[in-house]
Amino acid sequence: MNTTELLSQARAVLRLNDAGEFTKPSPHQYPHQWNWDAAFIALGLSHYDLPRAFTEVRSLLRAQWRDGMVPHIIYHTGKSDYFPPPEFWQTENLAHAGSVASSAITQPPVLATMVWLIHERTPSMDFLREVYRQLVAWHRWLHTARDIDGTGLMCLIHPWESGMDNSPLWAEALDRITPTRASVPPFKRRDTVHVAADERPFAPDYERFVHLIDLGRRLRWEPHALMDQMPFLIQNVLFCSILHRADQDLRQMALELSQDTCEIDGWLARTRAVFDARFWDATRGLYLDYDVRVKMPIRVNACSTFAPLFAGLATPAQAARLVAEHFDNPVEYAPGADSVYRLPSAAKNEPGYSARRYWCGPVWIHINWLIADGLRRYGFHAQADMLMRDSLALIRQSGFREYYDPRDASGCGAVDFCWSAALAIDILNER
Ligand code: GLC
Repeated sequence: MNTTELLSQARAVLRLNDAGEFTKPSPHQYPHQWNWDAAFIALGLSHYDLPRAFTEVRSLLRAQWRDGMVPHIIYHTGKSDYFPPPEFWQTENLAHAGSVASSAITQPPVLATMVWLIHERTPSMDFLREVYRQLVAWHRWLHTARDIDGTGLMCLIHPWESGMDNSPLWAEALDRITPTRASVPPFKRRDTVHVAADERPFAPDYERFVHLIDLGRRLRWEPHALMDQMPFLIQNVLFCSILHRADQDLRQMALELSQDTCEIDGWLARTRAVFDARFWDATRGLYLDYDVRVKMPIRVNACSTFAPLFAGLATPAQAARLVAEHFDNPVEYAPGADSVYRLPSAAKNEPGYSARRYWCGPVWIHINWLIADGLRRYGFHAQADMLMRDSLALIRQSGFREYYDPRDASGCGAVDFCWSAALAIDILNER
């Protein structure tokens, strides 16, 4: 398939999922708007339909909660056969919730970065001015409402907030949670209707996902209560890195709009000051997530370990170790006897690794995109090119899938998947 054909197929996928004012991640599996999906989709759209890209961002921000949070799922068109349905979150009558039906948790804040990338390529001061305040409010909420220890490092209260919903990163924290029959409200999974069960989470994990929603809604999603009582409380390398990069991009917007940068500078300085002590494991040369409830690092090697490159948080020496000891290591992430394509979402030598299971090993196009951007920041152009080349090879072989088996490029999860299409458009246009 040549580039022109690939581009036109990618646009066709975005068109297929276009619901007017928002884009579904995929036609059947994900029939609403998702937070970080929308941001990547807007980047793809911006290459050929800027007004529609802006509409995507506006729709997402319309769902912002009064306290600043931007939710992870937005049910613009009400109920569907998706689980959880809007009413499951029990957000009606919450003073701090928004006016559009949504979930009550958030997702990685790539939005400011996408808005800034779009603006750099196609400047639009009016649009920047329009969204700037809302982005600041969201970042402020992340640095304060979810700050438990004065570091401003955001805490996740649910695995779904990481965007890496079913990563082996969460296994121990989830194992410590024992849902009882009474604490798991009745529910019917829908994710296994459209996708093979071995590409989806195990049932006990799914029960815990639901149990955590139940706890959150009993606490009326009140940030203080959540910080106090949620049994799952994790500082996540991917999320904090994405936020730090997005803070830098928000700062650029502030300068462009002649706004004061004091508050943003404070977030940037604070994160930089604490990041290494919290996440860097100097023995292994890896960034590890931190489990706040047991005050211990999570000793799992997942693709999020490379995210500090995207944020410019690693020193050149740390970056060199990440690349030499992990990225280029055939036992962990590089092609070898047991894989061909980069980048597995968990290291291949992790006990929880599984080549086709959701977030336990398969390759994701948006993760490749983020990490390639980070590698370039540190001068690792050959490695960044490999990620882009492999991403396009996976898509050429199996179409725009949700994730891919790193052994043979076969597609897994949902079909006609939007961020794979949107980022293919970006990759091909930026070349
Ligand atoms: C899955 C992914 C999440 C994504 C969502 C919609 O839940 O884990 O990152 O946003 O699907 O595509």
